[in-house]
Amino acid sequence: MVDFSVTIGEITLANPVMPGSGTFSEVMEPVIDFNRLGAIVTKTVTPEIREGNPQPRVTEYKDAMLASIGIPSKGPDHYVDETVPYYRQFTPPLIASVQADTVEAFGVLVAKIGVSGVIAIEANISCPNMEQDGRAFAMECGPTERAIRRIKDSTDLPIWAKLTPNVGDIAEVARAAEAGGADALVVANALLGMAIDATTFRPKLGNLMGGLTGPATKPVILRMAYQCARAVSIPIIGCGGIATVADAVEYMLAGATAIQVGTASFIHPDAMIRIIDGLAEFCRQQGIGRVADLTGALKLGNEDRPARDAAI
Ligand SMILES: Cc1cc2nc3c(=O)[nH]c(=O)nc-3n(C[C@H](O)[C@H](O)[C@H](O)COP(=O)(O)O)c2cc1C
Repeated sequence: MVDFSVTIGEITLANPVMPGSGTFSEVMEPVIDFNRLGAIVTKTVTPEIREGNPQPRVTEYKDAMLASIGIPSKGPDHYVDETVPYYRQFTPPLIASVQADTVEAFGVLVAKIGVSGVIAIEANISCPNMEQDGRAFAMECGPTERAIRRIKDSTDLPIWAKLTPNVGDIAEVARAAEAGGADALVVANALLGMAIDATTFRPKLGNLMGGLTGPATKPVILRMAYQCARAVSIPIIGCGGIATVADAVEYMLAGATAIQVGTASFIHPDAMIRIIDGLAEFCRQQGIGRVADLTGALKLGNEDRPARDAAI
């Protein structure tokens, strides 16, 4: 028997697999058994009701997806009155993802959202900070630490800080989030990208730029998960390009305690279930008694030396 549980701070999950925010919703209930998931992470909620970005919002790019959805949101009241009660029927812990455009607004939103039934808050600090010219909070250490501290002060729930990969040194932002009181880090949100239609000379996305996600991004985000795991002592939840059991194992070996699956669920709606089943089988085949033993088990040989930026 493989012990499949993992702990993220004070929360124990039945297994390490959960959805990435915004890539999962109630509409998947007929397709997958929600009770098999390690946790349920809901779409990011904003303080205001939002329509989202202009169309087109998604374009495909070789083993990746470029999307600019713009966080359409039904607001906190809908979340508390409809979403939380809906998910109460399922056993996995519910994680509420939130974003706001000022430090203060983050605090107010989290105080509203942190109701009974929600077990942790995922702070999507990869979103624009209106006090910082619209640069994402998680692009800089000061705003990261301030936002997480404000959120932490607004609730007793554990805080998972979701970082952006659009930074030069993610380890220093990870340390800032930890200093602000984050209980775990989600590494990471989407890579900023753009695509142009060479026949029309027009951008392929209505918002010009969007987030690149999916398997093609895995080496970049995996590297960041590894760097964050070495930089902080709080748990890491890996998220970026995970589509197979091997992808999940790689993230855990790099130091992740748990993983999130996003784009892969659009291709195979049962991707998370396949990974859960495959991970159990992988552990049995490898003689691993506890899935948690994979975390940080990367074996380094001659390459165990300070990573150089210019590795090529
Ligand atoms: C269509 C779409 C919507 C998303 N919406 C959100 C969101 O609301 N909040 C958030 O934090 N991340 C959002 N993300 C980012 C994902 O949660 C995840 O971080 C990203 O897709 C990387 O994982 P992947 O490569 O497995 O897709 C979204 C991604 C996609 C593709």
